[in-house]
Amino acid sequence: MAKTLNRDGVLRLITCGSVDDGKSTLIGRLLHDSQAIMDDTLSTLANDSRKHGTTGAGEIDYALLLDGLEAEREQGITIDVAWRFFATPRRRFIIADTPGHEQYTRNMATGASTADLAIILVDASKGLLPQTRRHSFIASLMGIGHIVLAVNKMDLVGFDEARFRAIVADYAAIAERLGFPGFTAIPMAARDGLNLATSAAEMPWYDGPTLIAHLEGVELAATDASGPLRFPVQWVNRPDAHFRGYAGTIVAGQVRPGDPIVTARSGKATRVARIVTVDGDLPHAGPEAAVTLVLEDEIDISRGDMLVSPEDRPAVAQQFAADLLWLDEDALKPGRSYLLKSGPLTTPASVTLLKHRIDINTLDERPARTLAMNEIGLANLETTAPLLFDPYGECRDTGGFILIDRYTNNTVGAGMIRHALRRASNIHLQPMTVTQAQRSALNGHQPAVIWFTGLSGSGKSTIANLVEARLAALSCHTYALDGDNVRHGLNRDLGFTDADRVENIRRIGEVAKLMADAGLIITCSFISPFRSEREMARQLVGAERFIEVFVDTPLSLCQARDPKGLYAKAASGELRNFTGIDSPYEAPEAPQLHIKTQDMSEADAAEAIITWLRARDIIG
Ligand code: ADX
Repeated sequence: MAKTLNRDGVLRLITCGSVDDGKSTLIGRLLHDSQAIMDDTLSTLANDSRKHGTTGAGEIDYALLLDGLEAEREQGITIDVAWRFFATPRRRFIIADTPGHEQYTRNMATGASTADLAIILVDASKGLLPQTRRHSFIASLMGIGHIVLAVNKMDLVGFDEARFRAIVADYAAIAERLGFPGFTAIPMAARDGLNLATSAAEMPWYDGPTLIAHLEGVELAATDASGPLRFPVQWVNRPDAHFRGYAGTIVAGQVRPGDPIVTARSGKATRVARIVTVDGDLPHAGPEAAVTLVLEDEIDISRGDMLVSPEDRPAVAQQFAADLLWLDEDALKPGRSYLLKSGPLTTPASVTLLKHRIDINTLDERPARTLAMNEIGLANLETTAPLLFDPYGECRDTGGFILIDRYTNNTVGAGMIRHALRRASNIHLQPMTVTQAQRSALNGHQPAVIWFTGLSGSGKSTIANLVEARLAALSCHTYALDGDNVRHGLNRDLGFTDADRVENIRRIGEVAKLMADAGLIITCSFISPFRSEREMARQLVGAERFIEVFVDTPLSLCQARDPKGLYAKAASGELRNFTGIDSPYEAPEAPQLHIKTQDMSEADAAEAIITWLRARDIIG
């Protein structure tokens, strides 16, 4: 499958580079100069005794172009990008205008996912900057086929050819590392329009094309109608008992009535009966056509499934490796459950392993435990529902995804799938003879997980101890999991970075689940500073047997108590990443019990928990 889908020869481009590289000037100039060319052409044509007529020469079919963008908005990442249209008599263009400095990389990535060409802007007086490398790397990850190195602000270096050549040579080294098939370097001064639409007399040593001439001449990969069919089902259209159709947009390949197809997920086979559109049935449809397919047989298909060619199906997997670009200020937390959106499918997903991150200065791979904003790395991911995909290098539409934070709803990452991981696919759940209900009957009570969260020194362990003693006195089978203790054994490899805390709680959640399955009542005393992971623990264990207890003690009081002397160390800078000092704590929004330790004694708190367990018939 080709990497690029093109609309009628329209060239989609993005500009990237560093913050004051002159991007806005360049875009403004492109719009202005192309309009000037257009006006010239139009007046020539008008003077030409109406031989050709003037319509058509400069008309841009905005509607068509906007149609194409709709699909992308569906993908969920076209948010901050303004698309500008311009045209010359030879070609039409769409350029992604990505305002905002802070979110530069995010916006660039957003535009890059559908761009055919990237203009990498470099300030001639500054040379290559880290952003140049970062954006080039993203352009290569996102499969942009054409790169233009625009060496801008040549006036600032006296139009010096040697300076231009040196920058081109530096960039050639990067292009080679990134495996670009090639790039076109153009010296220019965008502000004055030099080498934009007309050749610059100031740089007689340059005999290549102007930027516009180059853009007009770039050859695009043909729309790939010959590849295998990929038709993600957006929704099932069933207005009445007589009609059932599957609506969506063809992202690759083509269909005709009578064609054999299968569903990607189940492999069920049938044939296309009709291709329905608002304008009537079609004899044939290709990439980017928004259609409703009616099939010969009724088979079970739902939103998020894909209709595909029987002889060449996408991968169906829950574990895969992908290049990840992190876009959020809140760093990636391996182990955290995010939402993964790929086409019409949304499923919970987490990073199970971060293999490396890219050092943007050297483009080398470095070991990493997290990705900060704008960082790029290679990761293994796992999804809850099977994902249907092609490697991104083969199909951008089915191989790309975004990650969304479940609380903030922010798009936090963009991913490009490399390949499926098959490691865990031969592991099946063993059926057990003794059931959880039998274990509970033997114990004489139901299992439960009592989850204490709060700052260090807030009193979690103390209350947990009292609760466990009460339960033991009632002949309940209990166990206590406690931060300090677990970190001596199971979690001794973990520290206190955000990523390690996520992993700490993930493991505890799993252990608590096993223990609850064994029939025990477990107390868990962990700072557990993040809502996401507490929520994950709740889901693992089951909400009906999970009681979140917020041990709410003001930071000042914890500091005054300082039972382990750790607040003093944190204050002096001897201890880093200390919760409440230089590491965040996200208080629960709706805990089952909110214990304000200033207003309630520890014994009363323990009693309140016992009462809660009784009220739910967990204990007798
Ligand atoms: S959590 O954040 O990952 O949930 P956990 O509850 O396991 O933390 O461990 C917290 C205990 O580790 C604290 O009560 C304290 O005794 C000790 N500790 C050591 N360093 C830190 C730190 N930087 N931040 C918080 N607690 C720390």
